[in-house]
Amino acid sequence: MRGVKSRSLTLGIETSCDETSVAVVEDGRRILSNVIHSQVDLHKDFGGVVPELAARDHLERLPQLLDLALEKAGVKPTDLDLVAVTRGPGLVGCLLVGLGVGEGLATAWDKPITGVNHLWGHIYAAMLARPDLEPPLLGLVVSGAHSDLVRMPEHGRFEVIGRTRDDAAGEAFDKAARMLGLGYPGGPALDRLARTGNPKRQPLPKPSLAGLEYSFSGLKTALLYRLRDLGEAVTDQDRGDLAAAFEQSVVESLLEKLDLALQAQPVEEVVVAGGVAANTLLRRRAAEVVGGRARLTMPPLDLCTDNAAMIAAAGYLGGRPTPAEVNPSLGWDR
Ligand code: KG4
Ligand code: ZN
Repeated sequence: MRGVKSRSLTLGIETSCDETSVAVVEDGRRILSNVIHSQVDLHKDFGGVVPELAARDHLERLPQLLDLALEKAGVKPTDLDLVAVTRGPGLVGCLLVGLGVGEGLATAWDKPITGVNHLWGHIYAAMLARPDLEPPLLGLVVSGAHSDLVRMPEHGRFEVIGRTRDDAAGEAFDKAARMLGLGYPGGPALDRLARTGNPKRQPLPKPSLAGLEYSFSGLKTALLYRLRDLGEAVTDQDRGDLAAAFEQSVVESLLEKLDLALQAQPVEEVVVAGGVAANTLLRRRAAEVVGGRARLTMPPLDLCTDNAAMIAAAGYLGGRPTPAEVNPSLGWDR
């Protein structure tokens, strides 16, 4: 079959926040390589992401990560069919680095380039975990900046049906972790601390807004007051119990709305993704809440947090190419 290509290869680049990642994905579904450099060590002394440091580090790391991704995948630049780069949402300086490098490569190699919505990427991560997964689906994307419930009727189309009024779930976990004396990154540290506690010993209120809206700021304040009341007398057991109570309130709130959305409009496929989908309790409870009503897909941990394979998948499967233009405040639009 001379001249007929059997597979399509996409190079993905992700630099929206504090992970630098380059991946090669075949036909949008099969990961050939997905190298990820986390900037945790760079930011941990500052207690959070420092945008200028993040952007400079992306620029310094990308060349070697690119070489590694191509080498691991066993492909040459000439084998590639598409370059897919995160265009937003994210930190503007960080996004500019990824897109600048992506455009340079696409021009030098004479390959098409597409800008990718990072939030779409989180949903498409589920299609790498389960190559047979197809829309229509109901999605919950929970990350550092988003807690969004979306319906995906077909590839490349998303309708937001619920979102947060204030903090995102990941942001709430990160802030609670700081109050509990845990460092950055807070979410995984709070997850570990919660495993040592009992959520029933010092319960915290579960946020309850009408409809499909989330709010986590009241819960955060409740934790702050509880810790203030305990003062110097706070024990490790208290901290573990409060971490468990906080985690439980966030997780049950997230799933209560997912449950409502599923009741209102049943679908066969449900995806829970984004960094917070790495949370131990959320993974267990999501399976229980969805139950037999739909098939639940939660990507494995390394595909929940930011990575370039999900960007390659979204760029390839998400429909027509999108201009490679940075948009730091992009919602769910293309
Ligand atoms: O998707 P992601 O890697 O980056 C963004 O797009 O924001 O999500 C990062 C968020 C952070 O807030 C982090 O604390 C949270 O995901 N996270 C977790 C866990 N692992 C990461 N939150 C709770 N439990 C975890 N195990
Ligand atoms: Zn993300």
